[in-house]
Amino acid sequence: MKIELGVAVAQLDQRIKSEHFVRAVLSGRRRNMQTEFERIDIKPVLIKEEIKWQIISSDGKKDITKNVEIDFNFTHLFSSGFANLVVDTQTESYQVRISKKDEALVSVSKVNLSRDLSHDRQKQRMLAESNQVFKALDMSDLLGRIKPSKMDKYKQVDEFLRLISQTLDTQDLKQDEISVVDLGCGHAYLTFAVGEFLKNRYKKVSILGVDERDESKEHNEKVALKLKVEAKFIAAKISDTPNQVVDIAIALHACDTATDDAIYWAVKNNAQVIMAAPCCMHELQTQIKEAPEPWALLTKNGLVKERLVDLITDSLRAQILKLLGYRVDIVEFIGGEHTARNILIRAVKTNQISSDIDKDRYQQMLSQWQIKPYLAKLLASELKASAGV
Ligand SMILES: C[S@@+](CC[C@H](N)C(=O)[O-])C[C@H]1O[C@@H](n2cnc3c(N)ncnc32)[C@H](O)[C@@H]1O
Repeated sequence: MKIELGVAVAQLDQRIKSEHFVRAVLSGRRRNMQTEFERIDIKPVLIKEEIKWQIISSDGKKDITKNVEIDFNFTHLFSSGFANLVVDTQTESYQVRISKKDEALVSVSKVNLSRDLSHDRQKQRMLAESNQVFKALDMSDLLGRIKPSKMDKYKQVDEFLRLISQTLDTQDLKQDEISVVDLGCGHAYLTFAVGEFLKNRYKKVSILGVDERDESKEHNEKVALKLKVEAKFIAAKISDTPNQVVDIAIALHACDTATDDAIYWAVKNNAQVIMAAPCCMHELQTQIKEAPEPWALLTKNGLVKERLVDLITDSLRAQILKLLGYRVDIVEFIGGEHTARNILIRAVKTNQISSDIDKDRYQQMLSQWQIKPYLAKLLASELKASAGV
């Protein structure tokens, strides 16, 4: 429906001030007009018992957030050069596209939205939803909003970036260039996001993505072309990945022992930082029949055994890295509602010599439980050389 622009803006203004207002998005540019930001998101928030309008303005790299009151001049904002204006209430989505002739093309659709007034929901993201990377990866829609089906992946990537950022803040990787290798990269959501994020910190970021599927390589090379970034992808088993210089090795949900292959490759190539969020794990499940006494009740129940053995697997991975001179922690990188696989092993190379108690704990664990983890087999000679175990 084509209507006069002033009438459409008045409709938007009335809706944004209504008690049923849920969210608004302003994006795109009108012909011959400039906007200071790529996109603006607005939502109602409750601050000290009072409703305010939270305005988050994004230039594609960072967000600026301010909270305003009902007397704010929204009409002015709606007329400030954005071509696409959407205001959603709980029951209606009012969408305006401003044509080259400055006409308002309006469409109204029925929706059923709830109003969330928490002001920390829009937490500061490491890469804005509207970042070009998410567009190229087909994770966001035309308005630069992450598609509902991709929201979990976006949050995983965002939290992974947050942890990389925190790690780099404490780590002395003060250099102009950085090399990142993503092992088991799949469709490279994380790979491209890490590249984009690090380009603000380093002059040159080199990226390699490894996945055994040819289809992943094809997909990822197309995305790299779209983004005009020099990321390299190979279709290979992680264990066949050629050696190369690597500062940060990442592996997000590389299946089963592929996580061990990734850690092994990273250690062999002297990665300064290793961040691995493991996926399903079967290897030790078959090795452990029951727990050594007096702990047998821990493995009697299948469900408990499965969870316990997953934790044993990750604890041993962490311990192996510790014995090899890495400072290691295991963190939950995202809430369990986004993925059940939410544990991340983070290892930073310090070359610290391991203590006798660490070696002893490791050896006792293997001998009491009668196990030999796959990673221990892969890194047998390194463990002998570095810790004598
Ligand atoms: C669950 S997906 C995760 C993809 C990506 N890291 C992400 O989180 O979006 C696991 C990926 O690892 C790849 N993969 C599994 N085992 C592999 C191996 N041994 N070598 C190379 N790629 C492997 C699979 O092809 C798949 O694309």
